[in-house]
Amino acid sequence: MNLAVFASGRGSNFLAIAKAVKSGKIKISLALLVCDNPGAPVLDKAKRLGIKVALVKRQDFVSKKDFETRIIQHLKENKINLIAMAGFMRMLSIDFVRAYRNRIINIHPSLLPSFKGGHAIKDAFFYGAKVAGVTVHFVDEEMDHGPIILQSVIEIKEKDTLDSLEKKIHKIEHKLYPQAIKLIVQRKLKLVGRSVRIKAG
Ligand code: GRF
Repeated sequence: MNLAVFASGRGSNFLAIAKAVKSGKIKISLALLVCDNPGAPVLDKAKRLGIKVALVKRQDFVSKKDFETRIIQHLKENKINLIAMAGFMRMLSIDFVRAYRNRIINIHPSLLPSFKGGHAIKDAFFYGAKVAGVTVHFVDEEMDHGPIILQSVIEIKEKDTLDSLEKKIHKIEHKLYPQAIKLIVQRKLKLVGRSVRIKAG
């Protein structure tokens, strides 16, 4: 199986996945990083690890369709059959999602369906939620939506600050995402309607 990670920013999840692959915890080839942001720190991380990068900038294309066609070319060239979105700051089109249905996963720093969007941790914290968490899910046509693979919950304590909560959540992400990818690689997931069943063993 060949994995592509899509990221636009820091790349801490990319790094966590890369480490899990390198250590042999996940038997998959991390074949490609797709990035749309030339200033993203994730690019240096990929370079240091010797992972191939496709830097595809939206502004180089007239339409979103052309932009995605170029990305799909890279995916085909590298025989990608699983895509892990890790802080990729662009919504994929319906056509893209349909072309890779059930082969795109995403990580989101909240307990979906609560707190969708780009400021999930902050939103949960200032909402006064008592618990927060992380979701890994299959991507469908809606934002931060689709069958849930794994979730992890943590309590928001009174002594937590936004900063401490963010740190705890990212730490959870770095475990949960490799775990979810491993389940896919081991073919342990079964989609039943909207639910993802995890086979035992
Ligand atoms: C993570 O919090 C992830 O859940 C969200 O975007 C952030 C990416 O962080 N989708 P990083 O670039 O992996 O450090």
